[in-house]
Amino acid sequence: DQRRQITETLDEFRLTNDQLLEVKKRMRTEIQNGLGKKTHDSATVKMWPTYVRSTPDGSEKGDFLALDLGGTNFRVLLVKIRSGKRRTVEMHNKIYAIPMEVMQGTGEELFDHIVQCISDFLDYMGMKNTRLPLGFTFSFPCRQTSLDAGILVTWTKGFKATDCEGEDVVGLLREGIKRREFDLDVVAVVNDTVGTMMTCAYEEATCEVGLIAGTGSNACYMEEMRNIETVEGDVGRMCVNMEWGAFGDNGCLDDIRTEYDRAVDDLSLNPGKQRYEKMCSGMYLGEIVRNILIDLTKRGFLFRGQISETLKTRGIFETKFLSQIESDRLALLQVRSILQQLGLDSTCDDSIIVKEVCGTVSHRAAQLCGAGMAAVVDKIRENRGLDQMDITVGVDGTLYKLHPHFSGIMNQTVKELAPKCNVNFFLSEDGSGKGAALITAVGCRMFSHIK
Ligand code: BG6
Ligand code: GLC
Repeated sequence: DQRRQITETLDEFRLTNDQLLEVKKRMRTEIQNGLGKKTHDSATVKMWPTYVRSTPDGSEKGDFLALDLGGTNFRVLLVKIRSGKRRTVEMHNKIYAIPMEVMQGTGEELFDHIVQCISDFLDYMGMKNTRLPLGFTFSFPCRQTSLDAGILVTWTKGFKATDCEGEDVVGLLREGIKRREFDLDVVAVVNDTVGTMMTCAYEEATCEVGLIAGTGSNACYMEEMRNIETVEGDVGRMCVNMEWGAFGDNGCLDDIRTEYDRAVDDLSLNPGKQRYEKMCSGMYLGEIVRNILIDLTKRGFLFRGQISETLKTRGIFETKFLSQIESDRLALLQVRSILQQLGLDSTCDDSIIVKEVCGTVSHRAAQLCGAGMAAVVDKIRENRGLDQMDITVGVDGTLYKLHPHFSGIMNQTVKELAPKCNVNFFLSEDGSGKGAALITAVGCRMFSHIK
């Protein structure tokens, strides 16, 4: 009977093929709404234009600084790109911590901290007084009006600094730089999906889609200008930052959300927002697992019915723990030792259940992400009037990289839901910083034409 009840609980997370096809269809509708002039304002999936009009062609060159803010690590980078026959990209980078108080303090403190890190990096590289063009990878929803202007629409994931929403983040960065009295040219603001796509496209010309399965979840792709009704002009293509994490914020996924998804949402920094992201990305999967474990414990099926302080602690199951627990090479004894490290005393039976819970939650995440991607690649295929299409997707993110099953299940789901597309996923590790530099290179070339 206990077994039956646990299975029933987890069954809510098992989606049928029809349900997944339905998710794909709904994503397609939301894409349409985000792109349409009349529907954009009320749309949830915003399809923001990025002003990136082409992927790299190999002629990019120069030395650039890049900032990479919004993933697991905040980084400052120096990227040296050489063009010509022997194209090379040389990168130097340093990771800096952003304390929680700064992530959730005032905007001025946040940008002062960022600028402090840039200054430290320039010192560290021995380039104190060089003035380099800078690309800013800022992995949050921004309404862009040009390559170098992006208004933060809303914070997502773990950030909540005051006085930033509604502001141009390039302006905030420039002001911070001024306060410290040094000079840098901020040339581009770039979403991590776009940086990842560009880095991948530098190696592989067929890459026209970027995907992040990490702390957050999001995608971008090259859309036809004629379909982007929120930007003037009908010629050529532009990359759109979908901000698909917000899919479902109008209630369109409510039929597949469970009580555990709702609990995670309620306890988050941004209740009601980023509902799809909260079902698919690394920052939240562990929280879904924790909420299920609490419920199963309350019902007496786990941990001898005792809810420990640890289990009540938010954020204990990071992606790396889920990934370890689900590793096939791990014996149950090792699962127990991981739980022990987290402060959870488990029996052998407990560890079997915990592993099953983790597997069910991440399986659904990978399938949902795949259903979204299937909608994207089929849209691109139809844009081009093709019956069959080969396409490359540049991917990055801790969930994609560390989890033992996520990438495989997502791949498989895309195959099943978009059979007319032959999708090649290409891991583009730490791509966002390099991508920002490539975009900055194109930006500098454009601006020097104007001057
Ligand atoms: C990396 C980027 O490529 O992927 C980060 O450089 C980005 O800025 C990240 O946000 C996504 O992964 P995660 O798992 O760190 O959020
Ligand atoms: C969140 C952000 C988005 C970013 C994604 C992955 O969804 O809103 O801009 O691309 O996380 O980091």
